[in-house]
This record gives sequence, C-alpha cells and structure tokens, in this order.
Amino acid sequence: MSNSSPTKYIDIQHVEQTFKTKKGLFPALKDINLTVAKGEFVTLIGHSGCGKSTLLNLIAGLTTPSHGVLLCADREIAGPGPERAVVFQNHSLLPWLTCFENVYLAVERVFAATESKAQLKARTESALALVGLTAAAQKRPGEISGGMKQRVGIARALSMEPKVLLMDEPFGALDALTRAKLQDELLEIVAATQATVVMVTHDVDEAVLLSDKIVMLTNGPAATIGEVLTVELPRPRKRVALADDAQYQQYRKAVIDFLYTRQAHVEKVA
Ligand SMILES: Nc1ncnc2c1ncn2[C@@H]1O[C@H](COP(=O)(O)OP(=O)(O)OP(=O)(O)O)[C@@H](O)[C@H]1O
Ligand SMILES: [Mg+2]
Repeated sequence: MSNSSPTKYIDIQHVEQTFKTKKGLFPALKDINLTVAKGEFVTLIGHSGCGKSTLLNLIAGLTTPSHGVLLCADREIAGPGPERAVVFQNHSLLPWLTCFENVYLAVERVFAATESKAQLKARTESALALVGLTAAAQKRPGEISGGMKQRVGIARALSMEPKVLLMDEPFGALDALTRAKLQDELLEIVAATQATVVMVTHDVDEAVLLSDKIVMLTNGPAATIGEVLTVELPRPRKRVALADDAQYQQYRKAVIDFLYTRQAHVEKVA
C-alpha cells in the first residue's frame, strides 16, 4: 500500500551528478533537493550548460545519479517508464512513419497487452485530436511544420497517459507565434488532464505563464537550486491580460533579476 504524499509526488533528495570526462571528473549538479506535488507545473530555468537537461534526464530515469535519490510516488526512479513520458526539443519522430503511426507505436508499447486494436486506435486518435492534428494524421514528419512535429511529440507523450510529463525545451526551436500558440494549448491540456509537469525552459515569460513553481538553477559547475519562485497567478491564465498585470511583472522581474544580476554569465578567461 502506498501512502505517498501528494505534495512530494516527485521527491529529489541530495542529488549529485558527476560526469567522467577526458579532463577528469566534472561535477555538473550538486545537492539538488526538490519536491513536486501531484498536478503541479514546475519549470527549470537557468543559463545554458547549467544542468537543466541533466536534471530532467535523471527524473526521466535515462541516467542515474552519482549520489542521492530520486523518488516518484514513493518508488525509487530506477529507469525510464511509461508513467514518466518525455518530450524532447528535437521532437525525435520516426521519419518513415505517419503522425498516426508515430503516436500508435507509443500507445502500443503501453497498452497492447491489455487492450484491443480498436482501443489502441481510438487512444491514438484522441491524442492527435487533443493537439489539433486529426487532419494531419496520415502525413509523415517531413510533410509537416516544426510546430506540428512538436505537437506530435506532445500527443505521443500524452497518449501514454503518463503520471508525469517531462519536457526539455519543447518549444525552443519554434518561432514566437507558434510557441505562444503551443503554450496556450499546453495550458489547456494540462488543465484538462491534471498532469504533473516538469519542463525545462530558457524563456522567462514562458516560465511565468505556465508554472506553479519556477526552479532557478545556479551556474555550473556544481550547479544547484538557487531559488524557487512560487507563482500564484490564478488560472486559467490569459497571456493578453497578463501582459499588463502588476503581479505578473513582479514574477518576471524576480526571474530576470536572478538570471541576469545574481547569476550573470561570467566569461571565463584562461
Ligand atoms: N554525458 C556527459 N558527459 C560529460 N559532461 C556532460 C554530459 N552531459 C552534460 N555534461 C555537462 O554538464 C553540464 C550540464 O549540461 P546540461 O546539458 O544539463 O545543460 P543544460 O542546462 O541543459 O544546457 P542547455 O540550456 O544549453 O541545454 C554541461 O557543462 C555539460 O557539458
Ligand atoms: Mg539542455
């Protein structure tokens, strides 16, 4: 029986990650302590190279920490699992498969043992519908735009009905308008599915718009959590209204201040 605390759905304790490199050991992350509540939307923000992807990969179970422990629903994260679906920046679709087939593959992996082909097909169709891609279902990745490819990646992740959605700069490669549209869609999907989300971003406005909690990482090596900002803007959030909202501006300023004043990127001189 699990008596997992809903406020510590993901529980990261004293995590450290050190990489072996040609020049010796490189300490990427040090003493990371973080909890994510069920249904919470958490973003990780920090300068390039500080260790955001390293931390996300640890939660995904794609790597294991050098020290410390990561738990999800009271179980140690010991490898990747369908309850923690990942959306990568480069959408990583199989180019020879249609959008439908790319999503179907994930659905099959999770549900084939317990469900009929018709049910798998229905799951795939509803995931594509959720991201507005019903009309493009039979197209291949080479025939659709970057924003659409990213939507397929999100549909694929959501189709597995993950408990946790992990996203590594999912909108990083998109133009500002497409990015805004997908952010709005993501807000709606998360509201509808009550998913727990951990998302990496570089973008201050994206972080404030989407997050319940913004986790700000210090610069590496041995990066750690510098500050956690709780964003208490009511939901649903509307970007146009928020643009002149004083509270929104304060959150934005707090993140900018952390990133560009306290953690300003220092050029290393050899
Ligand atoms: N497998 C690895 N072996 C050695 N060093 C690594 C490895 N993976 C990451 N690093 C180093 O760890 C640090 C953190 O990398 P990471 O990719 O997590 O940064 P990031 O915050 O995601 O950066 P970006 O915003 O540019 O994506 C970097 O200095 C990187 O060079
Ligand atoms: Mg990264």
